[in-house]
Amino acid sequence: MSFQSIITPEIRARLSCPTGKGGTCLPNACYTDPEWLELENERLFARTWMYAGCVDQVSRPGDVFPTTIAGKPVILVHGRDGRIRAFHNLCRHRGAVLVEEPCSGKSVLTCPYHAWAYGLDGTLRTRPHFRGGGEHDVLEDGDARGKLRTVRCESWRGMLFVNIDGDAAPLAEHMLLADDALEGWAPQELAYGGALTFEVAANWKHIHENFIDVYHKFAIHPALCAFAPMETSHPMVPIADHLLKTWHVIAAPQEGRGKGLPALPGLPDVLHREGRFFTMIPICSINVWYDQIAILVAEPTGLETTRETIHLLFAPEAMAGQYDRMRQAAIQTWDNLNREDIDPLESMQRGRVSPGFDGGTFSPFLDPGTHFFARQVAELMLEHENA
Ligand code: FES
Ligand SMILES: [Fe+2]
Repeated sequence: MSFQSIITPEIRARLSCPTGKGGTCLPNACYTDPEWLELENERLFARTWMYAGCVDQVSRPGDVFPTTIAGKPVILVHGRDGRIRAFHNLCRHRGAVLVEEPCSGKSVLTCPYHAWAYGLDGTLRTRPHFRGGGEHDVLEDGDARGKLRTVRCESWRGMLFVNIDGDAAPLAEHMLLADDALEGWAPQELAYGGALTFEVAANWKHIHENFIDVYHKFAIHPALCAFAPMETSHPMVPIADHLLKTWHVIAAPQEGRGKGLPALPGLPDVLHREGRFFTMIPICSINVWYDQIAILVAEPTGLETTRETIHLLFAPEAMAGQYDRMRQAAIQTWDNLNREDIDPLESMQRGRVSPGFDGGTFSPFLDPGTHFFARQVAELMLEHENA
């Protein structure tokens, strides 16, 4: 199935209609057709900045963190020279995956298949028995032969992003409007508080759309609604081609949300009773509360499966033992909140195989963000169809 057969002129016209006046979301095939996911890997994920991890996940020289970006194995490596680099996680000999699990204390990366060894800067160092039994090949420092293929990697406020095709605009430019909207927020001073991972039987776009969808809060999340009611919440609005934002006023701080943990350092006073939420197209969102930051990542693991990871950052003093229970409450709060979303997400995925759904009808007030996301995904894909 081709792009043009999925995003037909009629679908494009409906995507472009005003929200609430015939505007629609992406057609079912975008959630169920394996060729569409291939196209997303190639045209969407490979061409932009993708969240790959937190600096804290590779905080010391010798730390190595494997991940998957745009369907491709990638490793983040903290070198002995203090630099964090990203490489394609593939041996240059026969293409075996080099590193399967996060590890630390490394000085070389040794391929599990024939033990070729690479320095943490990606340089090939040794090839055992390369010239025959007992005839090892030892390469000099700086020998570029067989160097691991680099992936462009830049950091923004303690988060690491990679760009597979290497042609995206600089990350700082990509994040400029998020910087503006965050004012004095300084998460590089925060401590990594751990992650929650969920395997969801739904296409990644359902998960990402759910982050944009403020509408469902009153029906699915009673505790969240008590914390920040619908009346003090705002719909997501686009602030750039790849960025949406919203904010809400916190009515009643709760344990695990705004109560019991120290405030984030450097936050302007206005944020003490305000939550901010950013959604970046394609897969990453950032939720800022008074006492925590959550980074939400919807990583496609297949056409109809997504690994959703929520990374939590706290003020450094919140890592002291006296706050253990409150940090755990914050993690539990995210766990409860996210579990409430899973059944509706998986039910929407099941519904996407039916001709009984045609892209839906949006609320003109609460759904423009979801509509914008659908339109942008189609436009970005189309841009590269024509490129
Ligand atoms: S595939 Fe890595 S050493 Fe052979
Ligand atoms: Fe939700």
